[in-house]
Amino acid sequence: MRNKLVAGNWKMHGNLKNNSTLLGALIAGLPKPESRIRYAVCVPFPYLASVQDTLQNTHINWGAQNLSQYDKGAYTGEVSADMLNDFGCTYAIVGHSERRMLFGETSQVVAEKYAVAQRAGLVPILCVGETLEQRDSDITEQVIEEQLKAVITLAGVESLTKAVIAYEPVWAIGTGKTATPQQAQDIHQFIRKGIAAQDKGIAENLTILYGGSVKANNSTELFAMPDIDGGLIGGASLIAEDFIAICSAV
Ligand code: 13P
Repeated sequence: MRNKLVAGNWKMHGNLKNNSTLLGALIAGLPKPESRIRYAVCVPFPYLASVQDTLQNTHINWGAQNLSQYDKGAYTGEVSADMLNDFGCTYAIVGHSERRMLFGETSQVVAEKYAVAQRAGLVPILCVGETLEQRDSDITEQVIEEQLKAVITLAGVESLTKAVIAYEPVWAIGTGKTATPQQAQDIHQFIRKGIAAQDKGIAENLTILYGGSVKANNSTELFAMPDIDGGLIGGASLIAEDFIAICSAV
């Protein structure tokens, strides 16, 4: 049995007042999950301290949305893995498509971030996924293979025992256009099979999340697919009622 996870990615949203209301509602409304299920929120850096205060001793974990590929040094504006550890993070998202596309992160840089996060004891949530153009050109599998290969080449397939993968088709992010459960399942299965070719046991135990317009009304059918082990949730993670419903569906 694999671990399941529902993680909220708040992106660049929130303020102290709204965060406090949202987290209060999540603490009150999210029942303690079964032992193999995890809930988490990945929040903007400045809120990590207050989120740590609020969520410690609850059954909700937290993490960051990015981190530096460097350990420390003269890197103005960057945040290191050790800094995230100071604030009790469990997870760090790496390689979100918004980072790849808007901030020029290559698969090599993403792999370095993944490795740095793991070295510090954080669980990287590695995002992979194709654009609409790539899907239409029938190169979805090649794109995902290239994104995964960079990580496996740098960190080794065994690193996947301490990582989570999130399949997030770019065309489904923030668009309200979700992949159908079968479309998502097909890619999840492709990812798991590719890893199984290198190590069956690791592939079998790997948590693979789906992300892209997951809502309260489509999470149940997505999470029912055999290779979908939870979700990475953007917009709906900002609405307590919706995020609770999605967490309850996993
Ligand atoms: P939405 O759920 O808003 O489509 O965002 C998905 C996402 O990018 C999560 O990382």
